[in-house]
Amino acid sequence: MAIVSSGSGRTPKRRETVLVDPQPSTEEASVRPEDSLRPKRLEDYIGQHELKQVLGIAVQAALGRGDALDHVLLYGPPGLGKTTMALVLAEELGVHCRITSAPALERPRDIVGLLVNLQPRDLLFIDEIHRLSRVAEELLYPAMEDRRLDLTVGKGSTARTRSIDLPPFTLVGATTRAGSLSSPLRDRFGLIQRLEFYGQQDLELIVARTAALLSIGLSPEACSGIAASCRGTPRIANRLLRRVRDVATVRGGADSIDASMVAEALSLHRVDHRGLDASDRRLLTLLLEQHGGGPVGLDTLAAALGEDPVTLETVVEPFLLQQGLLVRTPRGRMVTDAARAHLEEAA
Ligand code: ADE
Repeated sequence: MAIVSSGSGRTPKRRETVLVDPQPSTEEASVRPEDSLRPKRLEDYIGQHELKQVLGIAVQAALGRGDALDHVLLYGPPGLGKTTMALVLAEELGVHCRITSAPALERPRDIVGLLVNLQPRDLLFIDEIHRLSRVAEELLYPAMEDRRLDLTVGKGSTARTRSIDLPPFTLVGATTRAGSLSSPLRDRFGLIQRLEFYGQQDLELIVARTAALLSIGLSPEACSGIAASCRGTPRIANRLLRRVRDVATVRGGADSIDASMVAEALSLHRVDHRGLDASDRRLLTLLLEQHGGGPVGLDTLAAALGEDPVTLETVVEPFLLQQGLLVRTPRGRMVTDAARAHLEEAA
């Protein structure tokens, strides 16, 4: 397991981010494009006002007591900033952030290795925490609750349990499926917070901030066009911004991007003015045209669309539900009148 470090540069000793890569192809740090765009401090983090308020208080209290921040579970659809928030928390606390994801913690020694190397008050971020193996989860219980690692040494009749004391630390777990966490694990988090889709105003601020960081000149109309078409999701907003920049570069207007370039990029990538993409429209159209609007069960829908049911439920559906284009009933999914109107308008 390679340890990839990328320091934030301000106070290298304490404010370093350590990424623990599940299956690194090289020993080199792979810096993803979004990493340089992430806000570093709570005050730079746009939106999620309630989340920031709750975590801001918890951070201040932990700093005041000189203790580790309580364990935090962040849940919600992908792309809303769970990893970013974990990095921000580490920065605010002035500690290391070790990042991993549950599928990388297959063997007991993976999680043991991480836990025994923690420094006091460090933050350990586990993405997709609902996918933890039973063994890893059981090692985490005493670690989270009593700062103790219970290891089994030896085999069969000579097997003994050895306990190792751990420093105080904070586990930040992230998941798109809070309901899939076992209750013993969920109960060990002191703070359980949901990330919400972002509103238009916050998205415009995020797009403007990213454009400034990437030195992209964007008209206010272009900025609001991108914000309106990103499914309430900063990751998609930043991705769309890059696609719009591509169009602008080819058309020779990369210094001053206007609404027409946004429209061209959205049409090229089949994103409509409400931010629905081809997968969203396929789902709604299937429900409407082949099932009279529903209700249809998730598995039937997934099979018909050739999608994985989990992806459908965690990636595609949340935005449609939030927009009131889809409803879940005990007998399955149904389209709403708003979805019918939208599809007619888009046709
Ligand atoms: N970039 C992506 N998400 C962001 C957020 N919530 N605040 C500021 N910049 C962002």
